[in-house]
Amino acid sequence: MQRSLIGTPKTALDTPALCLDLGVVESNIRRMAGYFQDGPVRLRPHTKTHKSPVLAHMQVAAGAIGITCAKLGEAEVMAEAGLKDILIANQIVGAGKIARLVNLAALTEVMVAVDDAANVEELDRAARAAGVTLRILVEVNIGLNRCGVVPGQPVHDLACRVAVAPGLRFEGLMGYEGHTVFIRDPEERRRKTEESLAGLVESADLVRSAGIPVQIVSSGGTGTCFITGRYPGITELQVGSYITMDAQYREEVGMDFAYGLTVMSTVVSAPTPDRAECDAGLKTITQDFGLPRVIDPPGWELAGLAEEHGHLHRLDGPPLRPGDKVEIVPNHGCTTINLHDEYWVIRDGVLAAVWPIAGRGKVY
Ligand SMILES: Cc1ncc(COP(=O)(O)O)c(C=O)c1O
Repeated sequence: MQRSLIGTPKTALDTPALCLDLGVVESNIRRMAGYFQDGPVRLRPHTKTHKSPVLAHMQVAAGAIGITCAKLGEAEVMAEAGLKDILIANQIVGAGKIARLVNLAALTEVMVAVDDAANVEELDRAARAAGVTLRILVEVNIGLNRCGVVPGQPVHDLACRVAVAPGLRFEGLMGYEGHTVFIRDPEERRRKTEESLAGLVESADLVRSAGIPVQIVSSGGTGTCFITGRYPGITELQVGSYITMDAQYREEVGMDFAYGLTVMSTVVSAPTPDRAECDAGLKTITQDFGLPRVIDPPGWELAGLAEEHGHLHRLDGPPLRPGDKVEIVPNHGCTTINLHDEYWVIRDGVLAAVWPIAGRGKVY
């Protein structure tokens, strides 16, 4: 069925349809790779955004040294699809998950974050029992106040524990300045990001002063890529959203990557000239970062979302009728993509392929 649809114009697809513009995505990948092709950092793109092994392979082909995943389940999907050198930028806790982690480590190069001494011991025991070596980054809380140990002595102390654990290999440190990536004022974003990164890099120096090599110091998001990517001492960038982009990053933060992800939707009701309902609601497109943006037709906006309805409000656009198509840009690409089983891959305005979003829902 899907194959017979190849060549269908984007505007004639059954809806709602999550559309990936391949030309735009390729260009976003090339641009980010180009910015850092001569260093000083290497790219380890965060695949929690797109959750697609095909897109991850494209990022690696463009020069990324490996990938980042948010969850073990995502990492398993990526490893099965042949991706190597995978950072799980998260803590893996509990016997069941750790058993899966050591299995994964037997299949591919995998790294995991730690911020707790008991977890380090659990991981070490499991790795030794399975005869594998787990690569470890100590996660540092650089201001996001999510996971991670505070910068300085606690980082040193945990790194020392990892370094002497026979089943583990200490690779370095990981931070994430998620509290600064969306700051609108560029100067404030720079200042707060650099303040945060200082604690990460100083922690790395402290670990080195104990005679422990620190190969990796990883951090960064799309909103801070040009700051973190040029900060002395940072070795890797974990950028995610740049590949597809979303309205929050482009319109509010001003990051100049193009929209590669839109939702095509159909008007199902147009009760008044100023109001219409489309078939993209909360089960199609998320609003955790605010309401999505209508890009076509111009002069309409989304005033709200119900489960299966998008409430369209006319500004100065043309009247809409049932059956008309509306193209919408998500305000948060990552959570929107996770609602869908497949991308409708568009090239030059027509359907070129349908790709499964294999990591979708792999939150375990
Ligand atoms: C650990 C980590 N690294 C990096 C990122 C960067 O993502 P983005 O480029 O989408 O801001 C995220 C986003 O949530 C993250 O959680």
